[in-house]
Amino acid sequence: MKKNLEEIKSTAIQQISAATTLDELHEIEVEILGRKQGSLSLLLRKVPSLPVEERPEMGKQGNIVKKEITQLISNKQKEFENAEESEEFFDFSAPSPKPKIGKSHPISQFIREVEDVFGRLGFDIADGPEIDDEHHNFNALNIPEHHPAREMQDTFWVKNLKKHVLRTQTSNVQIHFMEKNEPPFRIIAPGKVFRKDSDATHSPMFHQVEGLMIDKNISLANLKFVLLSALRELISPDLELRFRLSYFPFTEPSLEVDASCPICGTNGKKECRVCKGTSWLEIGGAGMVHPNVLKNVGLDSSQWNGFAFGFGIERQVMIRHQINDLRQFYENDLRFLEQF
Ligand code: DAH
Repeated sequence: MKKNLEEIKSTAIQQISAATTLDELHEIEVEILGRKQGSLSLLLRKVPSLPVEERPEMGKQGNIVKKEITQLISNKQKEFENAEESEEFFDFSAPSPKPKIGKSHPISQFIREVEDVFGRLGFDIADGPEIDDEHHNFNALNIPEHHPAREMQDTFWVKNLKKHVLRTQTSNVQIHFMEKNEPPFRIIAPGKVFRKDSDATHSPMFHQVEGLMIDKNISLANLKFVLLSALRELISPDLELRFRLSYFPFTEPSLEVDASCPICGTNGKKECRVCKGTSWLEIGGAGMVHPNVLKNVGLDSSQWNGFAFGFGIERQVMIRHQINDLRQFYENDLRFLEQF
């Protein structure tokens, strides 16, 4: 009888593990545990007819095997049910999840807009090297070797490349462009610039956009018209400009350009977080191109003249989106970037 019990157990194990459907499993269960004809039930029914001393042990063994088989069946059943459930969960007709689509960085977005707006004013887009020689970054722009203006722009010098710098300003593009092209022309040159400077409003790498227009009889009035038209489109339709006299080596006269506050206009409110009541925000420098700069690229300043300007990009984007820490632009935190 003990031998029979072991046989029943080992066939049961085999059959249960080989079952491929719930129905099959159910049939196996009836075959073994079925009350009337189940092989194990039949065997256990014989226990009372065994000699008295064998009965308790056989009874005990029989019940253990019964428990084991019941457990195996119920495990297998759960397996089938889980599989069924996960199949049910997969809905073939459901629309597929939307792919995550990347987008431009807020700085790039703004640069595209700048290119678009100036493009409609007839400006071409030019670019120049980010690692440049001293000549294009300084000398040709009328900033000679010991000129204090060099110190205003904390320069990164390139170690193994003599007299080369990470450009401190996009003004270098003026020189590259004028060396290769004959006037008349108007260009803008957006790009990265580098200075040893780092805090909440300064980054060692930031962006500028340079502008240059060379033609005949250009005046500050042309500069004003171009800047006003462009900035009204870019920032606010009722933007006003204020020019203050300033100094840059590459322009004469030189101007500091202020734009009216995009929140309070020219009536600055004390509590305004953008202008703090001053109404005006400094946005860049500009001026009439210095005759020395024209001479340095071989242009005759008695024939040609023009204006130039240079604006920081980050600041405009910070004002537009009310961002107060510039470093967020470069941390690549998607929670920040996805908002734009
Ligand atoms: N290059 C200047 C700077 O980085 C900005 C600038 C001022 C550019 C006046 C110009 C200009 O073209 O005319 O501070």
